[in-house]
Amino acid sequence: MTTAWGEPALARFPEDPRDRLRAWDASDEYLLRHLAERRIPLSGTVVAVGDRWGALVTALAAHRPTQITDSWLGQEATRANLARNGVEPGAVRLLTTQDPPPDRIDVLLVRVPKSLALLEDQLLRLAPAVHEGTVVVGAGMVKEIHTSTLDLFARILGPTRTSLAEKKARLILCTPDPTLRRPGNPWPYRYPLPDGIGPVSGATVVNHAGVFCADRLDIGTRFFLRHLPAGGNGGRVVDLGCGNGVVGTAMALADPRAEVLFVDESFQAVASAQATYRENDVPGHAEFRVGDGLSGVPAGSVDLVLNNPPFHSHQATTDATAWRMFTGARRALRRGGELWVIGNRHLGYHVKLRRLFGNSEVVASDPKFVVLKAVKR
Ligand SMILES: C[S@@+](CC[C@H](N)C(=O)[O-])C[C@H]1O[C@@H](n2cnc3c(N)ncnc32)[C@H](O)[C@@H]1O
Repeated sequence: MTTAWGEPALARFPEDPRDRLRAWDASDEYLLRHLAERRIPLSGTVVAVGDRWGALVTALAAHRPTQITDSWLGQEATRANLARNGVEPGAVRLLTTQDPPPDRIDVLLVRVPKSLALLEDQLLRLAPAVHEGTVVVGAGMVKEIHTSTLDLFARILGPTRTSLAEKKARLILCTPDPTLRRPGNPWPYRYPLPDGIGPVSGATVVNHAGVFCADRLDIGTRFFLRHLPAGGNGGRVVDLGCGNGVVGTAMALADPRAEVLFVDESFQAVASAQATYRENDVPGHAEFRVGDGLSGVPAGSVDLVLNNPPFHSHQATTDATAWRMFTGARRALRRGGELWVIGNRHLGYHVKLRRLFGNSEVVASDPKFVVLKAVKR
């Protein structure tokens, strides 16, 4: 990436030589160019929120910025990119969206996230640290910036306008008004589950901003909950890509002897799963882990993996993630252990499962969804 601060070499994480996607985009470049051309002073506390693969903080490392991210993969990418460019590890402060934010922010850079809810939550959490002199610049691709995005900046921080578009990217320029009466933070959001979905019927789900289906039960997840394994055998269960933890919590309620590991790469998701589990006084033992799929889980140590793979991001990335999740499950399962997957019919997960496990059975299906089971032989 070419910037006024040099040309850092950047990669996504985990690195995949077949992946042609860059670790930055035109909005990162536009934002950095704006800072340089306007000679924005970067001597105070510089905070970058939503910096996807660490492009912003790697470029600005000399100014000792703080990065705030919801993504474990994004944070690992940042660590790797800093190392790749010879930046000493302490130069950039790496925080998650769950950490207490800095007390005072002089330059706030916001790479607009996909989730409006996450943007709302983050701006509300950071607003007390923003003062009259804080330079606030948001950035995103034109298709990611809507009137509702600008409204959030205006309602939470102060008067907001946008720049002209350059290479399909746009900047959000906001002048903080500390006298503004900010709305209260609606996150985390709780809702009760409906009846008819097994042991988790009527339970409360807790959702931190930005998690999958934060304000209602996803119809695919609902279908999965109606067709989960009966349980009763105890053993080690993984809720892989746990989101708000509703699937693992259902399994723990069905089988109090089971040990459930909740894993997600989103810090907001794992915090939600933990809160959902606690909220429902679930008996038994659970563990919560932020990380990439099943990496770090010992081979042959798991009896059951439950998985609703991500499907919203860029198609190539999504396919790769599902494949990595299934491969990880095969490695982590003991012989005779099972992977249960829910997906839209058209995603064709049965093909992947058959290639990996040599078998795939339809547990349940309707016109839209299918629940598949693969056994490690
Ligand atoms: C379709 S959602 C399913 C959420 C929840 N299990 C449900 O059914 O409601 C997929 C989840 O996978 C998570 N995810 C994406 N990539 C991941 C990865 N590499 N490792 C672990 N989790 C990941 C996402 O953050 C998201 O919470």
